[in-house]
Amino acid sequence: MALVDEYRRQYAWRDWDRASSQCPIALGQHVLDLGCGPGDISAALFGRGASVTGVDGNHELISAAKERYPQCAFEEQDLRDLNPSLGMFDGLWCSFTAAYIADFEAVFSRWAALLKSNAWVCIVDVDDLLGHEPLSDETRSTIDEFYEDALRERRYDFKAGRKIPGVLENAGFSVTTLVLEDRELSFNGPADPEVEQAWKARFSRMGGLKAFLKEDFIPFTDDFMRCISSSDHKSLCKVICCIGTKISKGSGYGSFDWDSTTQRIAKSPAVQNSLDFAGAAVGAASPARAPDLVAAVVHAAEICSASTPDVTGREDRFAGP
Ligand SMILES: C[S@@+](CC[C@H](N)C(=O)[O-])C[C@H]1O[C@@H](n2cnc3c(N)ncnc32)[C@H](O)[C@@H]1O
Repeated sequence: MALVDEYRRQYAWRDWDRASSQCPIALGQHVLDLGCGPGDISAALFGRGASVTGVDGNHELISAAKERYPQCAFEEQDLRDLNPSLGMFDGLWCSFTAAYIADFEAVFSRWAALLKSNAWVCIVDVDDLLGHEPLSDETRSTIDEFYEDALRERRYDFKAGRKIPGVLENAGFSVTTLVLEDRELSFNGPADPEVEQAWKARFSRMGGLKAFLKEDFIPFTDDFMRCISSSDHKSLCKVICCIGTKISKGSGYGSFDWDSTTQRIAKSPAVQNSLDFAGAAVGAASPARAPDLVAAVVHAAEICSASTPDVTGREDRFAGP
């Protein structure tokens, strides 16, 4: 089966509805789908009212996406070095792709530069792909060694899922994490025959695993297939979905330290003068002028906060890189 068809078959086994229903997608938004593969998710995001640009480095997959979904724009680019001419976006979707990018945190900070203020991101990825029970202790320790080899050689991060919340938080996003059900990657009980076929096809594509195991490849995959077909099969593997919203000026300040900041503002000469002025004016003016005076004090506090170096620093950090 061609890779396009493999990806389309897998599409039916993912819990896309739960992931996308948690994203603040809105009519008219411009959304970037990074690692879009054959474009099925780009088309689903388009169906939610967004205009969508999908990007992938695989020529075969991008050609299939262009042919099948002309309502979306597709670009063939390396995700590690996106062209800034792509534009600015209200949302970023990236599913089952972050794990391919060894230095994901650095790459994500470059992606975030393509996002408008108040943009959202949704990153879905797998954690511990080969983590299933019951496997022998020997197979389990082979898996651990293979994970280390794949990370060292920068082919794939098998523990990407658990790292994504931290990556988003470090880039100034407020994060909600979901664990998604998945009929192929994270399920209990014996695999459906079609799911078994998909796993065999995945192993035949895993050149890194073949090279690592050499003559042990066949016994390893036999043991794995036995495991996922057994009635007491359990997945340790998880599909992690992280939805991040960008924290920007005026939209709430996350861990911003309001107490110490307001104390500093209150002590500043500008605010003291405003308060003195307000106090004097309230004494002299009618109660009808009180809202104007409150607005004057708030305005003075804003001016003061913008010119207080530490406060400005905190706001810049939350505005994203
Ligand atoms: C497992 S597929 C995921 C496809 C789709 N997002 C989904 O969730 O079904 C991973 C995709 O990432 C793409 N990809 C991985 N690394 C890439 C890179 N450095 N540049 C461009 N595309 C990349 C692959 O070509 C592939 O289409």
